[in-house]
Amino acid sequence: MSKKSILYSLVSVLFVAALVLSACGATPTPAPEATEPAAPTEELSVGVVLPTKNEPRWIQDETRFNDAFAAAGYDVQILFSDGDSAKERNNVQALINQGVKVIVICPHDATAAAAAAADARAAGVKVISYDRLIRDTDAVDYYVTFDSVSVGEAQGQYLVDKASGTGNPLYLYAGAATDNNAFLFFEGAWNVLQPKIADGTFVIKNSSRAEGLQDKATLTRDEMGQIIGQVTTEWQFDVAKNLAEANLTAASAADKGDVFILAPNDGTARAIADVFAADADVTSYVVTGQDAEIPSVQYIIDGKQSMTVLKDVRTLVGDAIAASIAYLTGGTPEETATYNNGVIDVPAKPSEVVTVDQSNVVEALIDSGYYDASEFTGLP
Ligand code: GAL
Repeated sequence: MSKKSILYSLVSVLFVAALVLSACGATPTPAPEATEPAAPTEELSVGVVLPTKNEPRWIQDETRFNDAFAAAGYDVQILFSDGDSAKERNNVQALINQGVKVIVICPHDATAAAAAAADARAAGVKVISYDRLIRDTDAVDYYVTFDSVSVGEAQGQYLVDKASGTGNPLYLYAGAATDNNAFLFFEGAWNVLQPKIADGTFVIKNSSRAEGLQDKATLTRDEMGQIIGQVTTEWQFDVAKNLAEANLTAASAADKGDVFILAPNDGTARAIADVFAADADVTSYVVTGQDAEIPSVQYIIDGKQSMTVLKDVRTLVGDAIAASIAYLTGGTPEETATYNNGVIDVPAKPSEVVTVDQSNVVEALIDSGYYDASEFTGLP
Protein backbone atom coordinates (compact mmCIF):
# COMPACT_ATOMS: atom_id res chain seq x y z
CA MET A 1 0.00 0.00 0.00
CA SER A 2 1.75 3.28 -1.04
CA LYS A 3 2.54 6.08 1.45
CA LYS A 4 0.05 8.30 -0.38
CA SER A 5 -2.88 5.84 -0.15
CA ILE A 6 -2.16 5.17 3.56
CA LEU A 7 -2.29 8.93 4.15
CA TYR A 8 -5.47 9.23 2.06
CA SER A 9 -7.32 6.47 3.91
CA LEU A 10 -6.16 7.75 7.32
CA VAL A 11 -7.08 11.35 6.57
CA SER A 12 -10.51 10.35 5.24
CA VAL A 13 -11.08 8.11 8.28
CA LEU A 14 -10.00 10.86 10.68
CA PHE A 15 -12.06 13.48 8.88
CA VAL A 16 -15.14 11.26 9.20
CA ALA A 17 -14.11 10.57 12.82
CA ALA A 18 -14.13 14.28 13.64
CA LEU A 19 -17.50 14.62 11.89
CA VAL A 20 -19.04 11.66 13.72
CA LEU A 21 -17.84 12.66 17.13
CA SER A 22 -19.33 16.12 16.78
CA ALA A 23 -22.56 14.35 15.65
CA CYS A 24 -22.34 12.06 18.69
CA GLY A 25 -22.10 15.01 21.04
CA ALA A 26 -18.59 14.13 22.17
CA THR A 27 -17.42 17.61 21.16
CA PRO A 28 -13.93 17.11 19.84
CA THR A 29 -11.70 19.49 21.75
CA PRO A 30 -9.13 21.04 19.39
CA ALA A 31 -5.96 18.92 19.71
CA PRO A 32 -3.74 20.61 22.28
CA GLU A 33 -0.27 21.49 20.97
CA ALA A 34 1.30 19.03 23.33
CA THR A 35 1.46 15.52 21.80
CA GLU A 36 -0.25 13.68 24.64
CA PRO A 37 -3.94 13.14 23.88
CA ALA A 38 -6.62 15.44 25.26
CA ALA A 39 -7.91 14.59 28.73
CA PRO A 40 -10.88 12.28 28.46
CA THR A 41 -14.22 14.06 28.48
CA GLU A 42 -17.08 12.44 30.30
CA GLU A 43 -18.62 11.56 26.87
CA LEU A 44 -16.16 8.91 25.73
CA SER A 45 -17.29 7.02 22.60
CA VAL A 46 -14.49 4.54 22.02
CA GLY A 47 -12.24 2.71 24.48
CA VAL A 48 -9.19 0.59 23.68
CA VAL A 49 -7.79 -2.30 25.75
CA LEU A 50 -4.29 -3.61 24.96
CA PRO A 51 -2.67 -6.77 26.48
CA THR A 52 0.59 -5.54 28.03
CA LYS A 53 3.14 -2.73 28.21
CA ASN A 54 5.99 -5.25 28.47
CA GLU A 55 6.45 -5.52 24.72
CA PRO A 56 7.49 -2.77 22.25
CA ARG A 57 4.74 -4.00 19.88
CA TRP A 58 1.83 -2.82 22.04
CA ILE A 59 3.53 0.41 23.06
CA GLN A 60 3.67 1.14 19.36
CA ASP A 61 -0.05 0.46 18.95
CA GLU A 62 -0.73 2.84 21.86
CA THR A 63 1.31 5.56 20.13
CA ARG A 64 -0.39 4.99 16.77
CA PHE A 65 -3.86 5.05 18.41
CA ASN A 66 -3.06 8.27 20.26
CA ASP A 67 -1.68 9.86 17.09
CA ALA A 68 -4.75 8.84 15.08
CA PHE A 69 -7.29 9.99 17.67
CA ALA A 70 -5.39 13.22 18.42
CA ALA A 71 -5.30 14.01 14.68
CA ALA A 72 -9.08 13.60 14.71
CA GLY A 73 -9.15 16.05 17.59
CA TYR A 74 -10.92 13.84 20.01
CA ASP A 75 -9.96 11.85 23.04
CA VAL A 76 -9.47 8.15 23.57
CA GLN A 77 -8.88 6.06 26.64
CA ILE A 78 -6.32 3.29 26.20
CA LEU A 79 -6.03 0.81 29.04
CA PHE A 80 -3.47 -1.98 29.46
CA SER A 81 -4.23 -5.39 30.98
CA ASP A 82 -0.69 -6.20 32.19
CA GLY A 83 -0.99 -9.77 30.87
CA ASP A 84 -3.91 -10.44 33.26
CA SER A 85 -7.42 -11.45 32.13
CA ALA A 86 -9.04 -10.27 35.39
CA LYS A 87 -7.49 -6.82 34.90
CA GLU A 88 -8.66 -6.90 31.29
CA ARG A 89 -12.24 -7.53 32.39
CA ASN A 90 -12.01 -4.67 34.91
CA ASN A 91 -10.71 -2.39 32.16
CA VAL A 92 -13.69 -3.27 30.00
CA GLN A 93 -16.06 -2.63 32.90
CA ALA A 94 -14.40 0.74 33.58
CA LEU A 95 -14.96 1.77 29.94
CA ILE A 96 -18.58 0.57 30.03
CA ASN A 97 -19.08 2.71 33.16
CA GLN A 98 -17.76 5.68 31.21
CA GLY A 99 -20.49 5.22 28.65
CA VAL A 100 -18.43 4.07 25.66
CA LYS A 101 -20.37 2.72 22.71
CA VAL A 102 -17.51 0.75 21.14
CA ILE A 103 -14.64 -1.16 22.78
CA VAL A 104 -11.56 -2.26 20.82
CA ILE A 105 -9.94 -5.22 22.64
CA CYS A 106 -6.70 -7.08 21.98
CA PRO A 107 -7.21 -10.04 24.35
CA HIS A 108 -4.48 -11.36 26.64
CA ASP A 109 -6.15 -14.79 26.64
CA ALA A 110 -8.52 -15.49 23.72
CA THR A 111 -11.02 -17.60 25.70
CA ALA A 112 -10.81 -15.81 29.04
CA ALA A 113 -11.70 -12.56 27.23
CA ALA A 114 -15.10 -13.99 26.31
CA ALA A 115 -16.50 -12.94 29.70
CA ALA A 116 -15.42 -9.32 29.20
CA ALA A 117 -16.92 -9.31 25.70
CA ALA A 118 -20.19 -10.64 27.13
CA ASP A 119 -20.20 -7.81 29.71
CA ALA A 120 -19.87 -5.29 26.89
CA ARG A 121 -22.56 -6.95 24.79
CA ALA A 122 -24.93 -6.96 27.80
CA ALA A 123 -24.32 -3.21 28.15
CA GLY A 124 -25.15 -2.65 24.45
CA VAL A 125 -21.52 -1.88 23.59
CA LYS A 126 -20.02 -3.05 20.27
CA VAL A 127 -16.91 -5.25 20.61
CA ILE A 128 -14.12 -5.07 18.04
CA SER A 129 -11.43 -7.75 18.42
CA TYR A 130 -8.07 -6.14 17.63
CA ASP A 131 -5.17 -8.11 16.10
CA ARG A 132 -5.99 -11.21 18.21
CA LEU A 133 -9.38 -12.97 18.02
CA ILE A 134 -11.60 -13.33 21.09
CA ARG A 135 -12.71 -16.96 21.11
CA ASP A 136 -15.60 -19.11 22.33
CA THR A 137 -18.34 -16.44 22.48
CA ASP A 138 -20.87 -14.85 20.13
CA ALA A 139 -20.31 -11.46 21.86
CA VAL A 140 -17.75 -10.29 19.26
CA ASP A 141 -19.06 -7.99 16.52
CA TYR A 142 -16.03 -7.49 14.31
CA TYR A 143 -12.34 -8.35 13.95
CA VAL A 144 -9.52 -6.21 12.56
CA THR A 145 -6.24 -8.01 12.08
CA PHE A 146 -3.37 -8.86 9.77
CA ASP A 147 -3.38 -12.07 7.72
CA SER A 148 -1.66 -14.13 10.43
CA VAL A 149 -1.43 -17.34 8.37
CA SER A 150 0.55 -15.41 5.76
CA VAL A 151 2.85 -14.13 8.53
CA GLY A 152 3.79 -17.74 9.31
CA GLU A 153 4.09 -18.56 5.60
CA ALA A 154 6.47 -15.62 5.12
CA GLN A 155 8.61 -16.85 8.03
CA GLY A 156 8.64 -20.45 6.69
CA GLN A 157 9.41 -19.30 3.16
CA TYR A 158 12.35 -17.22 4.37
CA LEU A 159 13.94 -20.29 5.97
CA VAL A 160 13.27 -22.42 2.87
CA ASP A 161 14.82 -19.77 0.60
CA LYS A 162 18.01 -19.71 2.72
CA ALA A 163 18.44 -23.49 2.95
CA SER A 164 20.27 -25.75 0.52
CA GLY A 165 20.93 -29.50 0.46
CA THR A 166 19.43 -31.82 3.07
CA GLY A 167 19.70 -32.39 6.83
CA ASN A 168 19.55 -28.70 7.82
CA PRO A 169 18.92 -28.45 11.61
CA LEU A 170 15.56 -26.76 12.30
CA TYR A 171 14.53 -25.35 15.69
CA LEU A 172 10.85 -24.46 16.06
CA TYR A 173 9.46 -21.87 18.51
CA ALA A 174 5.89 -20.63 18.90
CA GLY A 175 3.78 -17.98 20.61
CA ALA A 176 1.49 -18.34 23.62
CA ALA A 177 -1.19 -21.05 23.34
CA THR A 178 -3.68 -18.59 24.91
CA ASP A 179 -3.28 -16.43 21.78
CA ASN A 180 -5.31 -17.57 18.77
CA ASN A 181 -2.71 -15.93 16.51
CA ALA A 182 -0.06 -18.39 17.72
CA PHE A 183 -2.03 -21.17 15.99
CA LEU A 184 -2.45 -19.14 12.78
CA PHE A 185 1.26 -18.26 12.67
CA PHE A 186 2.24 -21.89 13.24
CA GLU A 187 -0.30 -23.13 10.64
CA GLY A 188 1.24 -20.78 8.07
CA ALA A 189 4.82 -21.79 8.88
CA TRP A 190 3.90 -25.49 8.76
CA ASN A 191 2.19 -25.03 5.37
CA VAL A 192 5.57 -24.05 3.91
CA LEU A 193 8.00 -25.99 6.11
CA GLN A 194 6.27 -29.40 6.32
CA PRO A 195 6.98 -30.45 2.70
CA LYS A 196 10.63 -29.46 3.27
CA ILE A 197 10.78 -31.45 6.46
CA ALA A 198 9.17 -34.44 4.78
CA ASP A 199 11.69 -34.30 1.89
CA GLY A 200 14.67 -34.09 4.28
CA THR A 201 15.71 -30.51 3.60
CA PHE A 202 15.14 -29.76 7.28
CA VAL A 203 15.46 -32.01 10.34
CA ILE A 204 13.51 -30.93 13.45
CA LYS A 205 15.78 -30.77 16.52
CA ASN A 206 13.62 -29.61 19.41
CA SER A 207 10.10 -31.08 19.22
CA SER A 208 9.35 -34.81 19.34
CA ARG A 209 5.67 -34.06 18.65
CA ALA A 210 6.45 -32.10 15.48
CA GLU A 211 8.76 -34.90 14.38
CA GLY A 212 5.93 -37.37 14.95
CA LEU A 213 3.64 -35.33 12.72
CA GLN A 214 6.17 -34.37 10.05
CA ASP A 215 4.47 -36.31 7.28
CA LYS A 216 1.12 -34.61 7.90
CA ALA A 217 0.52 -31.56 5.68
CA THR A 218 -2.47 -30.20 7.59
CA LEU A 219 -2.58 -30.40 11.38
CA THR A 220 -5.69 -30.27 13.56
CA ARG A 221 -5.88 -27.45 16.14
CA ASP A 222 -5.27 -30.08 18.80
CA GLU A 223 -2.15 -31.41 17.06
CA MET A 224 -0.84 -27.86 16.69
CA GLY A 225 -1.58 -27.33 20.39
CA GLN A 226 0.55 -30.35 21.26
CA ILE A 227 3.52 -28.98 19.29
CA ILE A 228 3.03 -25.44 20.65
CA GLY A 229 2.98 -26.97 24.13
CA GLN A 230 6.55 -28.22 23.55
CA VAL A 231 7.98 -25.07 21.91
CA THR A 232 5.96 -22.15 23.32
CA THR A 233 7.72 -18.93 24.31
CA GLU A 234 4.57 -17.62 26.02
CA TRP A 235 5.55 -14.46 24.09
CA GLN A 236 8.03 -13.82 26.91
CA PHE A 237 11.71 -13.06 26.30
CA ASP A 238 12.98 -15.00 29.34
CA VAL A 239 10.85 -18.06 28.55
CA ALA A 240 12.23 -17.99 24.99
CA LYS A 241 15.80 -17.62 26.27
CA ASN A 242 15.47 -20.49 28.77
CA LEU A 243 13.86 -22.81 26.23
CA ALA A 244 16.55 -22.11 23.63
CA GLU A 245 19.26 -22.75 26.22
CA ALA A 246 17.62 -26.02 27.23
CA ASN A 247 17.29 -27.07 23.57
CA LEU A 248 20.96 -26.35 22.84
CA THR A 249 22.08 -28.10 26.02
CA ALA A 250 20.15 -31.20 24.96
CA ALA A 251 21.42 -31.00 21.37
CA SER A 252 24.70 -32.56 20.17
CA ALA A 253 27.28 -30.63 18.14
CA ALA A 254 26.00 -32.52 15.06
CA ASP A 255 22.56 -30.97 15.67
CA LYS A 256 24.10 -27.51 15.39
CA GLY A 257 26.47 -25.97 12.83
CA ASP A 258 24.46 -23.92 10.30
CA VAL A 259 21.00 -23.85 11.84
CA PHE A 260 17.54 -22.55 10.95
CA ILE A 261 15.23 -21.09 13.59
CA LEU A 262 11.51 -20.37 13.38
CA ALA A 263 11.05 -17.62 16.00
CA PRO A 264 7.42 -16.36 16.22
CA ASN A 265 8.02 -12.64 16.81
CA ASP A 266 10.75 -10.04 17.25
CA GLY A 267 11.00 -10.01 21.03
CA THR A 268 11.47 -13.75 21.26
CA ALA A 269 13.70 -13.76 18.14
CA ARG A 270 16.24 -11.45 19.80
CA ALA A 271 16.30 -13.58 22.96
CA ILE A 272 16.70 -16.82 20.99
CA ALA A 273 19.27 -15.39 18.55
CA ASP A 274 21.46 -14.22 21.44
CA VAL A 275 21.46 -17.76 22.87
CA PHE A 276 22.36 -19.39 19.54
CA ALA A 277 25.01 -16.73 18.84
CA ALA A 278 26.66 -17.58 22.15
CA ASP A 279 26.89 -21.34 21.40
CA ALA A 280 30.35 -22.29 20.07
CA ASP A 281 28.94 -25.22 18.07
CA VAL A 282 26.57 -22.95 16.16
CA THR A 283 28.52 -21.66 13.14
CA SER A 284 25.66 -19.66 11.63
CA TYR A 285 21.92 -19.20 12.11
CA VAL A 286 18.96 -17.90 10.12
CA VAL A 287 16.20 -16.67 12.45
CA THR A 288 12.76 -15.28 11.68
CA GLY A 289 10.76 -12.59 13.49
CA GLN A 290 7.60 -10.46 13.30
CA ASP A 291 6.42 -6.90 14.10
CA ALA A 292 9.39 -4.84 12.83
CA GLU A 293 10.12 -3.66 16.37
CA ILE A 294 12.84 -1.00 16.43
CA PRO A 295 15.33 -3.15 18.43
CA SER A 296 14.89 -5.99 15.92
CA VAL A 297 15.26 -3.71 12.92
CA GLN A 298 18.62 -2.72 14.41
CA TYR A 299 19.42 -6.45 14.89
CA ILE A 300 18.64 -7.01 11.21
CA ILE A 301 20.87 -4.09 10.17
CA ASP A 302 23.62 -5.59 12.38
CA GLY A 303 23.12 -9.12 10.98
CA LYS A 304 21.98 -10.58 14.32
CA GLN A 305 18.38 -11.29 13.17
CA SER A 306 17.62 -12.37 9.59
CA MET A 307 14.13 -11.03 8.90
CA THR A 308 10.95 -9.67 10.35
CA VAL A 309 7.38 -9.33 9.10
CA LEU A 310 6.10 -5.79 8.92
CA LYS A 311 2.46 -5.47 10.09
CA ASP A 312 1.74 -1.80 9.47
CA VAL A 313 0.02 -0.78 12.69
CA ARG A 314 -1.17 2.46 11.06
CA THR A 315 -3.42 0.34 8.85
CA LEU A 316 -4.78 -1.67 11.78
CA VAL A 317 -5.51 1.46 13.81
CA GLY A 318 -7.17 3.02 10.77
CA ASP A 319 -9.36 -0.08 10.32
CA ALA A 320 -10.30 -0.07 14.03
CA ILE A 321 -11.29 3.60 13.83
CA ALA A 322 -13.24 3.10 10.60
CA ALA A 323 -15.15 0.19 12.17
CA SER A 324 -15.84 2.23 15.33
CA ILE A 325 -17.21 5.06 13.24
CA ALA A 326 -19.38 2.69 11.25
CA TYR A 327 -20.96 1.48 14.49
CA LEU A 328 -21.22 5.02 15.95
CA THR A 329 -23.14 6.08 12.84
CA GLY A 330 -25.46 3.08 12.88
CA GLY A 331 -23.65 1.31 10.02
CA THR A 332 -21.64 -1.93 9.70
CA PRO A 333 -17.94 -2.06 8.92
CA GLU A 334 -16.46 -3.46 5.73
CA GLU A 335 -16.18 -7.27 5.74
CA THR A 336 -13.57 -8.96 3.54
CA ALA A 337 -13.33 -12.30 5.40
CA THR A 338 -14.67 -14.20 8.42
CA TYR A 339 -12.84 -16.03 11.23
CA ASN A 340 -14.53 -18.85 13.14
CA ASN A 341 -13.91 -18.32 16.86
CA GLY A 342 -15.32 -21.66 17.96
CA VAL A 343 -18.88 -20.30 18.22
CA ILE A 344 -19.52 -17.87 15.33
CA ASP A 345 -17.95 -16.69 12.06
CA VAL A 346 -16.77 -13.23 13.03
CA PRO A 347 -16.83 -10.65 10.19
CA ALA A 348 -13.32 -9.35 9.64
CA LYS A 349 -10.91 -7.29 7.62
CA PRO A 350 -7.42 -8.87 7.54
CA SER A 351 -4.55 -6.74 6.16
CA GLU A 352 -1.47 -7.73 4.20
CA VAL A 353 2.03 -8.09 5.61
CA VAL A 354 5.52 -7.42 4.22
CA THR A 355 8.73 -9.45 4.66
CA VAL A 356 11.66 -7.23 5.69
CA ASP A 357 15.36 -8.05 5.74
CA GLN A 358 18.59 -6.18 5.03
CA SER A 359 17.73 -6.00 1.29
CA ASN A 360 14.57 -3.85 1.74
CA VAL A 361 14.76 -2.40 5.25
CA VAL A 362 15.13 1.18 3.99
CA GLU A 363 12.37 0.94 1.39
CA ALA A 364 9.90 -0.88 3.66
CA LEU A 365 10.46 1.05 6.90
CA ILE A 366 12.10 4.42 6.17
CA ASP A 367 10.81 5.38 2.71
CA SER A 368 7.31 4.30 3.83
CA GLY A 369 7.50 6.76 6.74
CA TYR A 370 6.99 3.93 9.26
CA TYR A 371 10.14 4.88 11.14
CA ASP A 372 12.56 7.78 10.99
CA ALA A 373 16.11 6.91 9.90
CA SER A 374 17.42 8.54 13.09
CA GLU A 375 16.12 5.55 15.08
CA PHE A 376 18.89 3.39 13.64
CA THR A 377 22.65 3.21 13.12
CA GLY A 378 24.36 1.65 10.10
CA LEU A 379 21.34 1.74 7.81
CA PRO A 380 22.38 0.27 4.41
C1 GAL B 1 0.46 -11.56 18.62
C2 GAL B 1 0.65 -10.41 17.69
C3 GAL B 1 2.09 -10.25 17.38
C4 GAL B 1 2.97 -10.36 18.57
C5 GAL B 1 2.49 -11.18 19.70
C6 GAL B 1 3.11 -10.92 21.03
O1 GAL B 1 -0.85 -11.82 18.81
O2 GAL B 1 -0.08 -10.57 16.51
O3 GAL B 1 2.27 -9.10 16.61
O4 GAL B 1 3.89 -9.55 18.77
O5 GAL B 1 1.11 -11.24 19.82
O6 GAL B 1 2.51 -9.95 21.74
